Amino acid sequence: MTSYACAVCGHALHSFLDFGRMPLANGFLRAEEFSGEYFFDLEAGLCPSCGLVQLLRQPAREKMFHGEYPFSTSSSSRMAAHFRGLAERLAGELAPGSFVVEIGSNDGTFLETFAKKGFPHLGVEPAAGLNRLAAARGVRTFEGFFDQDTAARIVKEKGRAELVFAANVFCHLPYLNSVFEGLKSLLSENGRIVFEDPYLGNVLENNSYDQIYDEHFFLFSVSAVRKIAASHGFELTDAEPLWTHGGSMRYFLSGSGKRRVSPRALELMEKEKAMGISLPETFEKFRGRCQESKSKLVALLRRLKSEGSRVAGYAATSKAATVLNYCGIGPDLLECVYDTTPSKQGKYSPGAHIPVRPWEEFSKPYPDYALLFAYNHMDEIMTKESGFMKQGGKWIVFVPHVQVLS
Ligand code: TYD
Ligand code: ZN
Repeated sequence: MTSYACAVCGHALHSFLDFGRMPLANGFLRAEEFSGEYFFDLEAGLCPSCGLVQLLRQPAREKMFHGEYPFSTSSSSRMAAHFRGLAERLAGELAPGSFVVEIGSNDGTFLETFAKKGFPHLGVEPAAGLNRLAAARGVRTFEGFFDQDTAARIVKEKGRAELVFAANVFCHLPYLNSVFEGLKSLLSENGRIVFEDPYLGNVLENNSYDQIYDEHFFLFSVSAVRKIAASHGFELTDAEPLWTHGGSMRYFLSGSGKRRVSPRALELMEKEKAMGISLPETFEKFRGRCQESKSKLVALLRRLKSEGSRVAGYAATSKAATVLNYCGIGPDLLECVYDTTPSKQGKYSPGAHIPVRPWEEFSKPYPDYALLFAYNHMDEIMTKESGFMKQGGKWIVFVPHVQVLS
């Protein structure tokens, strides 16, 4: 058996969930592309030393975050509001003229607030399509990946930053040591790093194994982030639980000794210790619960099919790729997935090859059951699609347990 080393501290990883051959979560494709589809071995492991949960292998980053990367922040109105609210709050804590950098600036939703308030700012984002959307919002971007070299270039051209923000980005970056070294040179002496990502604690609590896919290289905990940050001269000063992505955490870092560590961060670390968040046995149990979730979902879909019910998916999320391929759900069990993203519509889902249809067609006519892949946007979707339940439609969710909502 090959042993894999932690991408951050080098300790041997404890593999706990092997998904086998999986496609890229955002690899939506046309029928004529099926034969050349790209697959890789998806396997998750825990570093028992630093506590980072991570993938054992990862495809090249250019295969995932290419020019036409389809995820856009403003596809969810609640997500857009979440980032605008945070931008207002952080802008209020900064002196005028402070330089703000966002890593993975997506369509510019977060930086737009700073741009409008006249803060010097820069987004770093490799996807050209998203940068065009950001530019239309008056947001300046550097097209590329963030690492030590990019940081050095920004410092040379624009100076040091008072605030560096990143949302759902650090979990994508296996070269996290280079990112932290870049942050060290980019951040001003009293500057702050604020970043948020799906939270390992919620994944364990909710059995949300669907957070594991090619783009999510790491799943962070407060304790693990504190350790990595410290190894690069930063201190974790606060952590804030968030509702996004079915449970995320926002981390606040400063130079060592610059700020007081919040009681909330200390409490969260105590809670993590009690749940055994960095112990191999915790993940062995997690694997058992994932297998159980898979059996239940497949059994439910088979039963509905045998009863003659029509079942469709709702929202062709990245997470759906893990669920569909791990559970072996194909077009025989799920007739299609409805989604709002134009670049996914008319194509097929990666690996499972389920047709993606425009969400406007969901009601024409409604299926009997809809499997909700975007359970993290449940409130928004239930409101928007209230007509579905009114005429007898039923939602199926699989997080935290497989169940039919009525
Ligand atoms: P999200 O859970 O943020 O995706 P991911 O798992 O990829 O991080 O959901 C984004 C996807 O869900 C995107 O394909 C658009 C789709 N979606 C809908 O189709 N309808 C909706 O109402 C929402 C909020 C998302
Ligand atoms: Zn490690």
